[in-house]
Amino acid sequence: MDDSRDDPLQAVRGALAVAWGLSPRAQFSPLGNGLINRTLLMRDEDGRQRVLQCLNANVFPDPAMVMRNCRAVTSHLGRERAAGRYAYSVLELVPTLAGESALVLPDGTWWRMYDHVPDTHTCDAADDPAMTRAAARAFAAFAAALAGLPAGSIGEVIPEFHDPVSRFRSYQTARQADRAGRVAECVAECESADRFAGLLPQWQALIRRGLPSRITHNDCKLNNLLFDDRGEATCVVDLDTVMPGSLLFDFGDMARTMLSPVPEDSVDLAEVRVRRDHFAALAAGYVEGCGNLLTPLEREHLVFGARLVTGVIALRFLADHLDGDRYFRITHPAHNLERARNQWALFAALDRDAGALQSLVPAG
Ligand SMILES: Nc1ncnc2c1ncn2[C@@H]1O[C@H](COP(=O)(O)OP(=O)(O)O)[C@@H](O)[C@H]1O
Ligand SMILES: [Mg+2]
Repeated sequence: MDDSRDDPLQAVRGALAVAWGLSPRAQFSPLGNGLINRTLLMRDEDGRQRVLQCLNANVFPDPAMVMRNCRAVTSHLGRERAAGRYAYSVLELVPTLAGESALVLPDGTWWRMYDHVPDTHTCDAADDPAMTRAAARAFAAFAAALAGLPAGSIGEVIPEFHDPVSRFRSYQTARQADRAGRVAECVAECESADRFAGLLPQWQALIRRGLPSRITHNDCKLNNLLFDDRGEATCVVDLDTVMPGSLLFDFGDMARTMLSPVPEDSVDLAEVRVRRDHFAALAAGYVEGCGNLLTPLEREHLVFGARLVTGVIALRFLADHLDGDRYFRITHPAHNLERARNQWALFAALDRDAGALQSLVPAG
């Protein structure tokens, strides 16, 4: 019987088994709530568990660069851990039998395998400030441990990924083109975008003042961190976007995803706010995890980073809505607009509270 329509993995299962020496009876099941790659848990007959991922070619145009970066990051972190300078577990790539770190199939898909980190779980939202603090500390320690990697050893896998100037330009292009004929219905959201543009000169001034470029994670969402059964953060995952960036973006991404009590697509805008206790936990964990990495310029602009990243994602949701929903996955036609409204509400809340929040950042 041909069951390949029910099991899209059917066509590649044999090739994966040969490449990694798996038994024909190895079982595959979906793992986690990641939105980018296709992630599977592989259980072999002998009890071995591994994580198999198919890289998303739409998001990563140069998978070879992604894999070079992953190798450089995991081996550097492994050395840091062995030397006692990094306290967290490190993802381990499992090479194919031929010694390659990924398998490229004839259909052009890229597959790679990591050791499964046992007895861990991920969370999509933080209810307890202690979890926010643990997450911030882990992502900060990750960036601090990567500070010793020579700058040129990590490629820019998605050029200008968080760059606010380039993201604003793309939004302007989408607004001008009005491809889906939606600009007229988005007047208030476009006004928010114009207000956001007021931050750009300050961002450019920060770069001129020497804001450091560092190797950062660039996708510091809570579900990119494995927690053990005692609730301790144990391992940073999802290394594909590790590239040169700013600590302000990593901190900002965490602020954007962990401070509001409701998810980014909630339409209950009255609920969108900055939870002070979570902000205090985030700032304390981040400063602690960074050790002496954080310069005064970075420390003083962490809340600015939160405003910037939140505004950038609001711009991206809005631009995608104006463009006719070509990038973010949606479940209904207004989905991206609802996300944009939610993120502009969070942006406004951060703006309003910026001074008070920045005063909660510990001196380090
Ligand atoms: N090595 C691993 N051990 C255990 N769980 C993992 C491992 N790698 C990934 N996961 C789980 O799979 C999910 C998706 O993986 P991730 O690399 O974040 O993919 P995506 O880029 O799609 O977000 C993670 O959120 C986590 O729950
Ligand atoms: Mg992920």
